[in-house]
Amino acid sequence: MHTLFRSLVVLYGCFIWNIAGLPVNCPSSPAEWCGTRAIAAACGVTEQCTTFVWNNRTNDRVNFTIYYESLCADCRQFTITQVWFAYQAVADIVNLTFVPYGNAHEVYRPETQLYQFYCQHGPDECYANLIHTCAIASYPDIRQHMPFIYCMDATFGDVETVAIQCAKNVSLDYEKISTCTSSRVGNQLQHAYAVQTEKTKPTTAFVPFVTLNGNHTDEIQDRAQTDLIALLCETYKGPNPPSGCKKTT
Ligand SMILES: *[C@@H]1O[C@H](CO)[C@@H](O)[C@H](O)[C@H]1NC(C)=O
Ligand SMILES: *[C@@H]1O[C@H](CO)[C@@H](O)[C@H](O)[C@H]1NC(C)=O
Ligand SMILES: *[C@@H]1O[C@H](CO)[C@@H](O)[C@H](O)[C@H]1NC(C)=O
Ligand SMILES: *[C@@H]1O[C@H](CO)[C@@H](O)[C@H](O)[C@H]1NC(C)=O
Ligand SMILES: *[C@@H]1O[C@H](CO)[C@@H](O)[C@H](O)[C@H]1NC(C)=O
Repeated sequence: MHTLFRSLVVLYGCFIWNIAGLPVNCPSSPAEWCGTRAIAAACGVTEQCTTFVWNNRTNDRVNFTIYYESLCADCRQFTITQVWFAYQAVADIVNLTFVPYGNAHEVYRPETQLYQFYCQHGPDECYANLIHTCAIASYPDIRQHMPFIYCMDATFGDVETVAIQCAKNVSLDYEKISTCTSSRVGNQLQHAYAVQTEKTKPTTAFVPFVTLNGNHTDEIQDRAQTDLIALLCETYKGPNPPSGCKKTT
């Protein structure tokens, strides 16, 4: 098996670029080859890692959910640091869910049969929340919507301009997203996040607000904001903890 992997490495060349634009080298130790998706791709063993290592973890994934609003500075900071690092290091052991709504509120308007949303950071934030909502719905695979949300959170500027640029940068079809944002479906999806948020997050709680396997405590919140990778690794009880866990435990 290792010889086969070796020749694949030679075939594929020894490094590729990950999403952040940094070159990823194939490590010499085969034990590390399934460490992250970028490493596996650099080693040319994505398929083998999927079958023999990553799939074994899916039943035991830790549920981690982030209640946030799109323009809050602490939310953006949390997503582009802790969440992004965890996504890159330990994606296979976590079921990561974004709930873009936060401290918004909604009013149902019978005349239009639509919900109207009011956001802490104004109408731009409501629009960006809706774009996130529709990106998640249009691209439910975390590997597609996470890089998009990361890009939007990392980029300041006019909401729609940033969204179009980010969709392009991470190869999502913005037309598909905007069809949703301008439709009743988008309005309903945003409403569903409102309901979910109101059910889970106390109205006075700050955002980002997180749950770990459905639980929220001050300790979970603090650890998520200081060392999310360690928190997820400690909570994960399944087989083959990823190499991303070893650094922090
Ligand atoms: C992981 O899955 C593969 C393929 O289904 C199986 O052969 C292997 O025994 C599993 N390993 C563990 C540790 O469960
Ligand atoms: C992942 O989380 C979502 C939302 O919390 C849930 O609907 C889904 O069933 C979870 N998937 C797994 C495999 O736990
Ligand atoms: C998109 O990619 C280009 C080229 O890599 C970069 O200059 C630009 O800043 C990126 N835009 C966003 C919004 O990330
Ligand atoms: C994760 O969420 C799914 C769906 O709600 C649930 O079935 C599963 O048991 C949860 N996993 C854990 C470890 O709590
Ligand atoms: C979540 O809460 C349940 C019930 O209170 C508890 O049994 C479980 O251990 C908690 N899980 C975590 C990760 O704190």
